[in-house]
Amino acid sequence: RRADIGVIGLAVMGSGLARNLASRNGNTVAVYNREHDRTRDFAAAYPDADFVPTFSYEDFAASLTTPRTALVMIRAGAPVDDVISSLTEVFEPGDIIVDGGNSEYADTIRRERALREHGINFVGAGISGGEEGALTGPSIMPGGSDESWVTLGPILRSIAAVAEGEPCVTHVGHDGAGHFVKMVHNGIEYADMQLIAEAYDLIRRGTGKTPAEIADVFSEWNTGELESYLIEITAEVLRQVDAETGEPLVDVILDQAGAKGTGAWTVQTALSLGVPVSGIAEATFARSLSSHPEQRAAAAGLPGPAEDFHADDTEQFIEDVRQALFASKIIAYSQGFDEIRAGAAEYDWNIDLGAISKIWRGGCIIRAQFLNRIADAYADQPDLPVLATAPYFADALTRGQDAWRRVVIAAAQAGIPSPAFSSSLAYYDGIRAERLPAALIQGQRDFFGAHTYKRTDKEGTFHTQWSGDRTEIEAEDTH
Ligand code: 6PG
Repeated sequence: RRADIGVIGLAVMGSGLARNLASRNGNTVAVYNREHDRTRDFAAAYPDADFVPTFSYEDFAASLTTPRTALVMIRAGAPVDDVISSLTEVFEPGDIIVDGGNSEYADTIRRERALREHGINFVGAGISGGEEGALTGPSIMPGGSDESWVTLGPILRSIAAVAEGEPCVTHVGHDGAGHFVKMVHNGIEYADMQLIAEAYDLIRRGTGKTPAEIADVFSEWNTGELESYLIEITAEVLRQVDAETGEPLVDVILDQAGAKGTGAWTVQTALSLGVPVSGIAEATFARSLSSHPEQRAAAAGLPGPAEDFHADDTEQFIEDVRQALFASKIIAYSQGFDEIRAGAAEYDWNIDLGAISKIWRGGCIIRAQFLNRIADAYADQPDLPVLATAPYFADALTRGQDAWRRVVIAAAQAGIPSPAFSSSLAYYDGIRAERLPAALIQGQRDFFGAHTYKRTDKEGTFHTQWSGDRTEIEAEDTH
């Protein structure tokens, strides 16, 4: 028998997706893994599923119906190029290679172009949802050609998560668009996680509540506008007691956050595109700061505020933190969508931002009720310049800003780091400001480098002759 699709790489995500393809949808699925024992064991472990174990790329290709579709689920980086070159030898024009890992979108653009020369469709697809999502329905963000989408669309729709009756997959845009959007998804994931961590830290240090008590706070929050997967699992993590010590697990885990790179890529790309994703950047830097024990040991003796902090009104403080979290979250998503908008303009991708928010409603790590509001905002105004200005969000920011400011003030006074809360508030105040001190920066640039400036009252480009008589002249625009 011929397989409908093949999966290469049988680690956590690959094996989950292979099982999803076979079980949920009755597909015949060819499987291949570099270590052949793993392929054998995997097929043997699921005798009811229709797997075709293969042990060479030739067998793999021969086992597939045409046009062939291979879903490659391996570690991002050079291994992907190796698999692609092996597949190129055994695939034919019209066949499809899907890279479902967390590859860099620039690599995806390069690979798509190279494979197009061979007539092979290369699709970079972001896949979110971790182990459980892979198995029961992830959120899928495929890029690649329209031609590939004709074949891939039905199969991806059949394995994706479903949110409000709609499968969490859409053809994001050409070549690297899918991996670009997955990258930003992960950046937002970093921001969301950091904001939740700051909220936890403020409540713990400001009220003395135990992790288990704070778990209850998060569970309560999960019934309101903050309802989301990350809030839900936060409560579970905080409630967990370490079997060995009897302490809350969160107190036993080393406080150094890991990162595999997608957050950093989101920030690097945003810097190149000139998009201020300050919440995501602070979240990424906060992980870096946590992971330098030698620096933290050296700085541990630096003084903090003289007095210990304790919130006067526990209930009020917790409600303030909730509002600060929601407001900062709005800013993080607004910045993330801004980066997608800028990326789409730069690379000529026709990305439907409303559709992106819809496919993030289920399956992925940042799934949340909130995404419905983003979808509404783009449905009302597809060319919305700043997501945070959509009526629902503007209203939430209006209601929450006093609490947000109180929390940032309290954090600063208490010496509790809140980089994501405070940078989001600074962004909010920056973007809404009628006038920014950028005018002074332009003056400084013109002073030391004759970089010129524009005026508020007339067209043209100007330079003040700072080292001469300080009269102004019209100048050539040097930005
Ligand atoms: C997802 C996750 C997934 C992975 C991240 C974690 O959407 O399913 O984002 O891709 O968990 O890569 O990234 P860090 O290891 O950098 O935290």
